Amino acid sequence: MTDGVLLRSTRAVYPGSFDPPTYGHLDVIERAARCFGELIVAVVVNPQKRNPMFSLEEREEMLRACVAHIHNVRVLHFRGLLADFVKEQKADVIVKGLRVVSDFESEMSTALMNRSLSDVDTMFLMSDQRYSFVSSSIVKEVFFLGGDVATLVPEPVLRVMTTKRATIRALS
Ligand code: PNS
Repeated sequence: MTDGVLLRSTRAVYPGSFDPPTYGHLDVIERAARCFGELIVAVVVNPQKRNPMFSLEEREEMLRACVAHIHNVRVLHFRGLLADFVKEQKADVIVKGLRVVSDFESEMSTALMNRSLSDVDTMFLMSDQRYSFVSSSIVKEVFFLGGDVATLVPEPVLRVMTTKRATIRALS
């Protein structure tokens, strides 16, 4: 399917912390870009769950390198409420990936809240089964303990992670 042919006039937002981006994220991005006319990958400035390991600049830079081959994808960032960003961007839909059934529980309340705040619906794509166990947190843990994550993150991400690990080790 050519990029964006399904809903050509639709602008979608795919939000996340992307700390760091994984092949699971990239798979959702590639598939969403085939469905929607335009896809904005929206990097949250301050993730709620924890302090990010990678700066906003690093996260945006890694994502831009990963999506350079997809013509209808832009990488932006946002602060505050996703619902406000979606309205500001005049987006029609929010896209999220679902890896396992337990993801659905939290995503359902978030989707309902975002719809009540912005009147914008969330559409879910099932993650590819190859990536159903892949999360940014698990990738970071394995990598910083010396494990091989080359099959889990795109090459530009692996490069930035390797530099970060060397910096952290030099400082400790
Ligand atoms: O990759 P993540 O950490 O699962 O992404 C979570 C994210 C950024 C999508 C979510 O935390 C978010 O939307 N944050 C913005 C703040 C917000 O709108 N909170 C209310 C959601 S109901």
